[in-house]
Amino acid sequence: MTETVLLVGGGGREHAIARALADECSLYACASNRNPGIRRLADGFETVDETDAEAIAEIATTVGADLAVIGPESALDAGVADALDDAGVYAFGPQKAAARVETDKAYQRRFMRDADVPGCPEFAVFDDIEAACAYIDEYDGDLAVKPAGLTGGKGVKVIGDQVTAEEAKAYLRDAGYDRVVLEERLVGEEFTVQAFVANGEFRATPAVQDHKRAYEGDEGPNTGGMGSYSDAGAALPFMRSGDYEAALEVLDAVVDALPAYKGVLYGQFMLTAEGPKVVEFNARFGDPEAMNTLPVLETSFLDVLTAARDGDSLPELEFADAATVCKYAVPDGYPTDPDSGARISVDEESVGDALLYYASVDERDDGLYTTTSRAFAVVGTGDSIAAAEAEAERGLSAAGDGVRIRHDIGTSELLARRTEHMADLRE
Ligand code: AMP
Ligand code: GLY
Repeated sequence: MTETVLLVGGGGREHAIARALADECSLYACASNRNPGIRRLADGFETVDETDAEAIAEIATTVGADLAVIGPESALDAGVADALDDAGVYAFGPQKAAARVETDKAYQRRFMRDADVPGCPEFAVFDDIEAACAYIDEYDGDLAVKPAGLTGGKGVKVIGDQVTAEEAKAYLRDAGYDRVVLEERLVGEEFTVQAFVANGEFRATPAVQDHKRAYEGDEGPNTGGMGSYSDAGAALPFMRSGDYEAALEVLDAVVDALPAYKGVLYGQFMLTAEGPKVVEFNARFGDPEAMNTLPVLETSFLDVLTAARDGDSLPELEFADAATVCKYAVPDGYPTDPDSGARISVDEESVGDALLYYASVDERDDGLYTTTSRAFAVVGTGDSIAAAEAEAERGLSAAGDGVRIRHDIGTSELLARRTEHMADLRE
């Protein structure tokens, strides 16, 4: 029987999900922007606000969906999984309550502490901004300052890195957040591990390193992620034996404590001198990280979804022994003052062996237009990160004007810096 799958979301992550599924099922998609890559792969596409849970459940019913995959956290936070499940359409994505591991950072830390999940930094939660400022004054060391709710990865300020203590307090006083989390600043190298979770089990995918800072050399403001790489094995070059496994122990503890969780569980880790600590959890695939992971997944992703839905054991995952490098092209001015509504061009013929993923662009009759977020990504694969990086760069000749790219992602210079940084910390 051919399964009918509804995909929710219109970014690069969802284009990667669409490509992993399109050959194996009848695929329908819905998103707020008309992503040309997804539209071409899908049998049908509806424009809808990704947070309109009732409308999405109705689309799922109308197209006769057997299951749904939810990409963005905004949809999870809006209860789209709950609405789909209520409509009898299995959603691969947690219900609103379970998605709080991502959507509420205060809950996330308290959950880690109460469930004894390893890797939790020292933290405190404040509803009173002046009390938070006093804590900053009294704390012996640097802190990360985080609004408790969703901010697309852009609301966090790290004292001693991006801001001074005085700037952090001014930020808190200006921003008007209801609740903030202050936590110990973790120092090290970040990495992501995503796992498929259902029926109390999880299956992990290889580690990926994202690049949050807007500019080359890790300068500038935080973004949703400018690009990412993975190696041919499960770990990354700056990791030592045991680091990846320590991250899996964290995910295992979360899944044990949340038996009803279903969907992707994404662990963002800081590899510190003492091993991996948790920066955050996300309740969905990473964007860009999905574009590193899904192209090398050799196990059928549809089989994972149907096993999850049917209450079966999830299949063991096989991955190609290939490294990947993903580089995003973003609108000029992104993230602080993105040039949205600008017409851009992508020369698909020039992408070559690399993979092209469209992201937050809108396809109109007369061409492709930017939104306020990342426009498209190119992914190279190869035997080594260097080979994958070279392929990604060749593919980027497809990019026209009006976009910016961090060309340093995946280069040997940047990798060497990461490895040296970790070696220094561990001395
Ligand atoms: P988040 O939205 O929690 O992913 O935070 C965004 C970024 O802020 C992370 O990717 C880190 O680079 C940084 N960050 C968050 N929490 C901490 C922390 N406790 N120590 C150091 N950096 C952090
Ligand atoms: N790459 C970071 C995220 O998806 O949140």
